Amino acid sequence: MIFDRIKPLSAILAAAEKKSLHRSLGAFQLMLFGIGCIIGTGIFVLTSAGAQKAGPGLMLAFVIAGAVCVVAALCYAEIASMIPVAGSAYTYTYATMGEFLAWTVGWALVLEYAIAASAVSVGWSGYFTGTILQDTFGIVMPAWLSAGPLALGGAPGGLINLPAMIIALLVTWLLMIGTSESAKVNAVLVLIKVTALTAFIAITLTSSEFDTARFNPFLPAGFFGGWGSGVGAVGAAATIFFAYVGFDAVSTAAEETKNPQRNVPIGLIGSLMFCTLFYILVAAGAIGTIGGQPIMGPGGVPFPAGSEELARQCAMPQFADALVCSNEALAHVLREIGFGAVGNMLGYAAILALPSVILVLLYAQTRVFFVMSRDGLIPDGLSKVHPRWKTPYVVTAITGLVVAIGAAFFPVGQLADIANAGTLYAFGMVAVAVMVLRKTDGARVRAFRVPGLAIIGPLTVLGCLFLFVNLPAGAMLMLPIWTGIGCVIYLFYSRSRSHMALGNVEVHEPELAEIGPDIPGLSNKGND
Ligand code: ALA
Repeated sequence: MIFDRIKPLSAILAAAEKKSLHRSLGAFQLMLFGIGCIIGTGIFVLTSAGAQKAGPGLMLAFVIAGAVCVVAALCYAEIASMIPVAGSAYTYTYATMGEFLAWTVGWALVLEYAIAASAVSVGWSGYFTGTILQDTFGIVMPAWLSAGPLALGGAPGGLINLPAMIIALLVTWLLMIGTSESAKVNAVLVLIKVTALTAFIAITLTSSEFDTARFNPFLPAGFFGGWGSGVGAVGAAATIFFAYVGFDAVSTAAEETKNPQRNVPIGLIGSLMFCTLFYILVAAGAIGTIGGQPIMGPGGVPFPAGSEELARQCAMPQFADALVCSNEALAHVLREIGFGAVGNMLGYAAILALPSVILVLLYAQTRVFFVMSRDGLIPDGLSKVHPRWKTPYVVTAITGLVVAIGAAFFPVGQLADIANAGTLYAFGMVAVAVMVLRKTDGARVRAFRVPGLAIIGPLTVLGCLFLFVNLPAGAMLMLPIWTGIGCVIYLFYSRSRSHMALGNVEVHEPELAEIGPDIPGLSNKGND
């Protein structure tokens, strides 16, 4: 039975022990790492899509999505400090609910990591074409080269998003040749991002343009916009949930953390709380100065963000300056209120810092594939390690190509929503895994225990489900379709080749160590 194929925790832990990484990270380093992974396209770009869905209610949306992430983070903290090995949600599920469900989680993580990397690449492209090409060099990139085709939700006249494709390929190449972003580089990039957002908040909240009347109506599309509609405060929460994706990467560092009981939860929750506060203030500053009311369609319902109809509206002169139409939301706000130079600086900050988010997401994806391949569930050849670069170059190249194709043809909002669908499934499964492990292996020492798991666990599952059903219908549908494809592959390929099925339960952490246990943003060596 596929549900019986549970990888023994003792085998996983024994292998992890062999690897025995030095415990050197403190709470502050974890927080820096978390913030480095979290702040990206979500706040710099998707603020527009969020405002199109909820208007000023976007601020509430940040609170809702942040709250779901905090309870999920507590679950990650417990299981990561207990099973501190590679593979994240996939490995946790394998050790608790068996191979089949682990496969579905690993398969969904492709959406979380690879599709999210595409989304961040498209976000980067918006700032590159706006701030660098247009505002700095006066070059207007033709529409056909700077956005995906309208048929897929891109812009009118769009064909291919060349900058997005190029940045995705560039980061892939860096990962292939073994570039690991060092802790120092990460700290500098975090400082740049946080300085840019702090400047944005300080300028907008004290601007003479700031007017509280712009927050009225606060919920122009209501609190619940309707199931599958993707609008209203909760519809926006489901989309800007993307702005928090990546915090789970902190859990992958549990094994290298001093006093994980204290530091892993501080790192996870601390980085989330910090970002939530910043996000709410940024949203307040943007809406208070230039307004953020949605462009309404028939029946007083906002046009769907990233839709053909909205793209056509945005092409009209009366909406040329609207927040909801901008591809570089935050820089646009600053330009509109007379701070063009600071707006460009913020644009440069995004251009510098977003590639590191792509790097972490791509890295996480390749490591999940690597572990799945070593478990026999995907072909062995994929986990081939390059003799000189010491990286899993085959899987990195394939993943990078897929990410580049996604970035070339799809708009950022659609990609983010699809990534969210996969992430919410993985988060929900992690919460279930924590509850299952308490029942099946309650006596085992846990470096961190979720307080009140009987409430927090189900709350996490319900929170994820709640956000999931408030995604636009198309993104929601992608998860069952993607999982269905995954199930076919599992049944016809992976099930019979699984190393567990063949009686080989060895866990391959040593091989993973061979490709470097360094986590981008945490390693002390690297190209700094
Ligand atoms: N949270 C990351 C971002 O917003 C993925 O770019």
